[in-house]
Amino acid sequence: MEAAEAGAASVETARTATPVVRLEGVRKSFGENVVLDGIDLTVHAGEALVVIGPSGSGKSTLLRCVNLLEPVDSGRIFFEDQEITSKGVKVAAIRQRIGIVFQQFNLFPHLRAIDNLTLAARRVGKMPRQEAQLRARELLKRVGLADKAESYPHQLSGGQQQRVAIARALMMSPHVLLFDEVTSALDPELVGEVLVVMRDLARDGMTMMVVTHEMQFAREVGDHLVFMDGGKIVEQGDPTEVLDRPKAERTRRFLRRTLQLDRSLEELTIEEGGVE
Ligand SMILES: Nc1ncnc2c1ncn2[C@@H]1O[C@H](COP(=O)(O)OP(=O)(O)OP(=O)(O)O)[C@@H](O)[C@H]1O
Ligand SMILES: [Mg+2]
Repeated sequence: MEAAEAGAASVETARTATPVVRLEGVRKSFGENVVLDGIDLTVHAGEALVVIGPSGSGKSTLLRCVNLLEPVDSGRIFFEDQEITSKGVKVAAIRQRIGIVFQQFNLFPHLRAIDNLTLAARRVGKMPRQEAQLRARELLKRVGLADKAESYPHQLSGGQQQRVAIARALMMSPHVLLFDEVTSALDPELVGEVLVVMRDLARDGMTMMVVTHEMQFAREVGDHLVFMDGGKIVEQGDPTEVLDRPKAERTRRFLRRTLQLDRSLEELTIEEGGVE
């Protein structure tokens, strides 16, 4: 999206002020395992919402439910004015407006970067060839890959592949983008180039839900931070506030562990239930 277009979009949403995504008492279990245990959450237009929490706390499931990749057991999810958890909803149409980017880039290995971008736009979105090509080149430029349009995924670094995946998610002009640990599979020196692309998207007014372990990103780019554990939102608020002055003991423990891992492995011990 060009800056002017993003500007127009934010004027539009400011006028209507309907949240882009809203969850109301969302519950989801896999067998006996309660994975989302009554989640209430609102994402406003232009907001970058960051979700943190230990492994298994339900972060990916949360994003997958919003993208309708998983059905919820109860509760409701709204996308703009529409309840998308109701029966008979047009899933494909909604997915075009709710983009998702995964840890594994999921690019088609036999397609050049540009064709990875245009494929869904042409097949699902029925975008004319010429328009799809133009838009794809524009988006590849936006993620710093103008010169890699003709490259195949195996000719690109992990960071470049992930930026292609982000550009692909932008093809259908989504109203919200979901990011599930998109830098976790990257070599450390490649993380920055992907985070910068995400930061710039946020600055341009893209509404985003970002599951991440990158606390610096949460601090600098996040408008709101949610800490999840055991399928519940334990604590939420301004990112700096939550990270610097966590109120819940569970949040403190999680952050202490994260900071410890940043420093060294020496002080870590294995306790019942995992590393603490
Ligand atoms: N398709 C599935 N079938 C059965 N159980 C599942 C499925 N997907 C997730 N789970 C379980 O749900 C719980 C939450 O998983 P989820 O992937 O949402 O956690 P997460 O917070 O994203 O963890 P991580 O930080 O490791 O990615 C886990 O106990 C997991 O084993
Ligand atoms: Mg996950």
